[in-house]
Amino acid sequence: MAPAAFATVRARLVLLVAVLLVPAAIVAAALLWRSYHEEHRAAETQLTGMTRAMSIAVDRDIGQARVLVEALSASWWLKHGRWREFDAQAREVVAGTDRWVSVVTEDGRLLVNTHYPVGQLPVRNVKLAVSGTIGIGDRIVLHNLHFGVAPREPIVIVTRTIRTEDGQRLLLNVVRRASSFLELMQQQHIPPRWTGVVVDGNRTVIARSRANEAFVGKSVSPSMRERLAQSDEDVQPTVTLDGISSITAWKTSPTTRWTMIVAVPRDEMARGARGALIAGTILGIALLGLGLVGAVLVGRGIARPLERLSRAAGGLAEGGALPPPSGLAEIDAVQIALAGAAKLLRAREQELRDLNQDLEARVTERTRELAEATESLVQAQKMEAVGRLTGGIAHDFNNLLTAVIGNIELIEKGNADPKVARRLANARSAAERGARLTGQLLAFSRRQRLHTEAVDVNAVVTSASELLHSTLGSAIEIETALGADLPAVEADATQLDLILLNLAINARDAMPDGGRLRIVTAAQSVDDAPRGAEAPGPGDYVAIRVEDQGTGMSAETLSRVFEPFFTTKETGHGTGLGLPQVLGILKQMQGGIAIESTQGIGTVVTIYLPISGGVPVHAVPAPVTIGPDWSGVCVLLVDDDPDVRGVTAEMLREQGCEVVEAGSGREGLAQLESEPAIDFALLDFAMPGLNGAEAARLIRAQRPDLPILLMSGYADLEQLGALWSGPMLSKPFTAATLRARMDELRA
Ligand SMILES: Nc1ncnc2c1ncn2[C@@H]1O[C@H](COP(=O)(O)OP(=O)(O)OP(=O)(O)O)[C@@H](O)[C@H]1O
Ligand SMILES: [Mg+2]
Repeated sequence: MAPAAFATVRARLVLLVAVLLVPAAIVAAALLWRSYHEEHRAAETQLTGMTRAMSIAVDRDIGQARVLVEALSASWWLKHGRWREFDAQAREVVAGTDRWVSVVTEDGRLLVNTHYPVGQLPVRNVKLAVSGTIGIGDRIVLHNLHFGVAPREPIVIVTRTIRTEDGQRLLLNVVRRASSFLELMQQQHIPPRWTGVVVDGNRTVIARSRANEAFVGKSVSPSMRERLAQSDEDVQPTVTLDGISSITAWKTSPTTRWTMIVAVPRDEMARGARGALIAGTILGIALLGLGLVGAVLVGRGIARPLERLSRAAGGLAEGGALPPPSGLAEIDAVQIALAGAAKLLRAREQELRDLNQDLEARVTERTRELAEATESLVQAQKMEAVGRLTGGIAHDFNNLLTAVIGNIELIEKGNADPKVARRLANARSAAERGARLTGQLLAFSRRQRLHTEAVDVNAVVTSASELLHSTLGSAIEIETALGADLPAVEADATQLDLILLNLAINARDAMPDGGRLRIVTAAQSVDDAPRGAEAPGPGDYVAIRVEDQGTGMSAETLSRVFEPFFTTKETGHGTGLGLPQVLGILKQMQGGIAIESTQGIGTVVTIYLPISGGVPVHAVPAPVTIGPDWSGVCVLLVDDDPDVRGVTAEMLREQGCEVVEAGSGREGLAQLESEPAIDFALLDFAMPGLNGAEAARLIRAQRPDLPILLMSGYADLEQLGALWSGPMLSKPFTAATLRARMDELRA
């Protein structure tokens, strides 16, 4: 948008002053102009009045001369030519005036002249060189300006023609110096710079109030002559004979045809009015200027705080401060309102920012949670799949190992050759390692049968640390810090030993040059949702921290430690099943695990065990008793795997038992019916057709008192758990284990 005219406060104020002052100035100018004109007119009137007055005075003067002429013309002495007597009479009549009387014959002979002393009349002819006359009465004429002989100066003559008694025509003159009209003008009080002029019928100057000598007898200017011809009375601008530009008034007397002229120099004319006009104009301009300057100053006084305010308002959003109070109420009010608005704005902004930050944090948190949930789901699915696979393999392996170990044992029994015995021992230890491996696999796939009970964690840690001393070697210093008054946990004590062993071995491997292994126990509550599949869920736990001063792990390693078969150790030194197995057991016990590790500093592994409501039972070693005698006892052995069945039957027979074998559940039931002497049933769980648990139920229906022991390779622990709550024997087993479990049942 283009800025509007008068867009600033200052400009508007100037405009305001202009709007207020200009009309006033115009009116004042008009008034001044009028008064100037009025004064001009008054001056003109004064001028005209003056010419009239002069005209009247001159007319009266001429009239006096005429009266004198009239009076003398009636003289007896004159009529009778008695010139001496007439001279005396005439002198008497004009005494006290500056006039004189002369009598001249028609042919110019001078008879009387009172200008001369009595008796000294020069004898000479007087030729009245008359340049023109005008009749101003009966036989009376007024001459135009005449240059006299005595005195030799311009004179004014009024003449009457008379006839003496003897019939002679004479001219009777009353004469006066032209200069005497100067006095007349002086009586009119003509101001010094004005010019008064008496002009005769010929337009010749008779008398002039200024520079009389220089102009008397001269003709008026041609232009003046023209004007005089045009009108008898007027006021007009002219230039005087001495070249002064003037306003001139004139009046021509109708009787004498003489003209009175008064000229005022133009600059004299209405001098006061003009002065007032000029002063008014200067004053007006000065006032206007002052007003404008004042407007600019006042405008600046308003504009400055406004500009400051506008600048500050621009900076308010960026947190700028407002200027100090300006002293202008409206601006200060706006300023206060603006400050309030800015404060509000900033508060809102902060709120918005906080909200935004909160939102961002929440989004980040949710995203992370989602990623974690997805990851743990994927992990869980992976574990599930791997678990199924390993569980299946482990089951078959256990059957195989049962046969292998059982057969080795049987061979060992009948062997005396030390060489064979050594080889058998090697084979047996390899088979036992295989059995441990399948055990780990089962543990990882969470398909291990756990015997959870209320366990005193501190007791487990104390006994485990004793064992660890010998296992880890002297380079590793073991330290325990046990929390006081810890509640019992719901756990499988044997598995807990296994877990501690696993963690301790990992710690040792991370400290090849030795170091300190610290085991700390403490009660701990978890409030948050688990972070990752391995973390414990919310609840109350007893935590066992296993801290080492080893190499620590990189983030990459740390992210993979729970993957089965992930190891950084050399081939033959680690299978990568340690931590997966630990995790599997802990999860199966409703616990969890967390690992913190810093490369070069060490690792802290914390395992969480759920608190139990029960009281821990301290294992009391069972009194050594001599087990029941199995000789002659008839045992029904049902297993679909002929190798396992064979070796198990052999183990039973070694104990002195009689063995009735069956390859399936159905067959076992049939045998039970045909052989009523059967005292004990040993059934495999996983079999095609009737499984061990189903077969056991049917047997119970027929023979409720018959002791039944189920063997399992943990193919499906959940299924087994749902179907069978009776005694169990884990595959692979040794003859001793088998005998121990059977002893328990018969006791
Ligand atoms: N305390 C520890 N300090 C440093 N690294 C560790 C520690 N515990 C585990 N690790 C790392 O985690 C990997 C996996 O450990 P895990 O116990 O599962 O398998 P392993 O020890 O390699 O083999 P296994 O335990 O089956 O004999 C190890 O190879 C090692 O790199
Ligand atoms: Mg390990």
